Amino acid sequence: MTIGRARIAYGGDYNPEQWPEEVWPEDVRLMQEAGVDLATVGVFAWARIEPRPGEYDFGWLDRVLDLLHAGGIGVDLATATASPPAWLARMDPGSLPVRADGTQLWPGSRQAYCPSSVTYRERALALVERMAARYAGHPALELWHVGNEFGCHVSECFCERSATRFRDWLRARYQGDLDRLNRAWGTTFWSQHYGEWEEIAPPRATPTFPNPSQGMDWRRFGSDELLDHHRAERDMIRRHSPDVPVTTNFMGMFRPLDYWRWAAEEDVVSQDTYPDPSDPAAPVGVALVCDLMRGLGRGRPWMLMEQASSRVNWRRRNVPKRPGQLRLWSLQAVARGADAVLYFQWRQSVAGAEKWHSAMVGHDGALRADVVELGRELAGLSDVVGASVPARTALLFSWENWWSLSQPGQPAWDLDYPAEVRRWYAALWSANVAVDVVPPGADLSGHALVLAPLLHLVTQADVDSLRSFVDGGGTLVVGFWSGVVDERDHVRTGAYPAALRDLLGLVVADYAPLADGAAATVRLAGGETCRVTQWTERLVPAADTEVLASYTDGELAGLPAVTRHRHQGRGVVYYVSAPLAPAAMAAVMDRARADAGVESSAAGLPPGVEAIRRGPALFLLNHGDEPVDVSAEGTDVHLAPRSATVLRSPRPPG
Ligand code: GLA
Repeated sequence: MTIGRARIAYGGDYNPEQWPEEVWPEDVRLMQEAGVDLATVGVFAWARIEPRPGEYDFGWLDRVLDLLHAGGIGVDLATATASPPAWLARMDPGSLPVRADGTQLWPGSRQAYCPSSVTYRERALALVERMAARYAGHPALELWHVGNEFGCHVSECFCERSATRFRDWLRARYQGDLDRLNRAWGTTFWSQHYGEWEEIAPPRATPTFPNPSQGMDWRRFGSDELLDHHRAERDMIRRHSPDVPVTTNFMGMFRPLDYWRWAAEEDVVSQDTYPDPSDPAAPVGVALVCDLMRGLGRGRPWMLMEQASSRVNWRRRNVPKRPGQLRLWSLQAVARGADAVLYFQWRQSVAGAEKWHSAMVGHDGALRADVVELGRELAGLSDVVGASVPARTALLFSWENWWSLSQPGQPAWDLDYPAEVRRWYAALWSANVAVDVVPPGADLSGHALVLAPLLHLVTQADVDSLRSFVDGGGTLVVGFWSGVVDERDHVRTGAYPAALRDLLGLVVADYAPLADGAAATVRLAGGETCRVTQWTERLVPAADTEVLASYTDGELAGLPAVTRHRHQGRGVVYYVSAPLAPAAMAAVMDRARADAGVESSAAGLPPGVEAIRRGPALFLLNHGDEPVDVSAEGTDVHLAPRSATVLRSPRPPG
């Protein structure tokens, strides 16, 4: 199920409860002027809908939905459970979340609930039941929006109720066998053996490092526990409203939630994106998140559920979007698979914590001109709606891996998984190579090149998938510190990296992080050099493994840094033993692309110009501060700074 529209949806979070009713008809008039056709309603309206426990007031919401419908505007209706009213905490103080150190969080902002709270869940589901029953047949209803940004502020709770739920989750995972849990957690270490289930607690504040295998299960539980409630709300909706798609808005690379598991439960994937306008690297990171959303939806179109028209209000300094960036970044999302462009929020609040967050309509009551222009332009892009974004390169991304890299007591404590993934992705982004983001273990047969940066944790299924990809002639690039532990965060024994060393054609004799301030030099075969910091490895290549780059100084002088190995006469496997600088990373990627036969979407464009094919269109985006003249699809194009153009491709749609 998708939102199944003929045009790109345009709109934003609409919070009419913040305004007198006289303003609402003006809202609808302005929405029409802006080309808005989808409004997300009710996200934080629980206290307005249910001002006292069990006392519901839907009249105002009925009128809002009727008004929107009469104005031709569809509704993405939120379940309103993202933030419980103050009465919930009074009714049950145990519904409030507790941090690892025992501090209880109070109401007065938002999301003040323990994910496992029985009272929260019961009251939330009672509300959802009424919402779903009442609005299932409403003609404005196009989409259900469960909660909002699950886990954004509170993704885990360390209270006694959470401890009980954690134990239940563990009993299920280990089939009631405490010995299995003890083995999986390696509890012979530091006298951590559990003789009774009741002895097990969440990883609360401890004297020193908590058990990392327990940490893995705690994170899995945390993600599953919120997902469990999400599923309950969704199932309640489906009972009343089986034909309307359901979503919840994701937050890109958000560590606490394993979105691979979450996305499998969504009818359509949606995402909130807030790049920093002052960060020159923002377009790369945003492109990666767009590709991740497409991957989470298994290639189907996704929704940009929230973006800011200009400033946010939650950074230390909140700079406005620069001229052109709103359009540029909106088109970037569409180019990379979005079929909806929405904002937080429609009308800028005058009170509350977000009154300085930009909106589509400002404090002056006027629509932003760029918002109106974008609405018009998106209406002309209907030919890309539903179209896929073809890619022959796959980038592996895994939350479980991220969690294992976040466990205490590692050789380097500051390895930043998303940053390393971005470093690899940037090399392809700069060359305008389309990338699909996929989970380890995925079917890789549709791809020619697979990238596995910093894939520390691999299950046997992940290894098998990489092996069959390489056996099938694929080209694989593996990053440092990969293939080292299993899903329990136990080291895979044998020479490092035991799970992958025959594929790589080498042994890692030692992992050698660099001291703060230290650097090593890597020289590529072409003679170019680059400085690396943070991490190096002592590699011992097999006789048939080619050395593409070597360390030239320090303890590792003369030893390989980057290798290439043809595995059993089939595919080719690269190994990159350090976080390479961009030019060196690009050189490795170019070489791997040549092996894999992966081409650029539009070669030879100046730096900072992004090219993406989607269906019949080639999107050209100039993120730079200088104008550029480029040639593509047989056309000469002038691109002003921070501007974009959409060309129709003579190629058949992808
Ligand atoms: C998130 C939330 C919104 C709002 C915005 C502000 O995306 O979902 O309610 O707080 O952030 O940027």
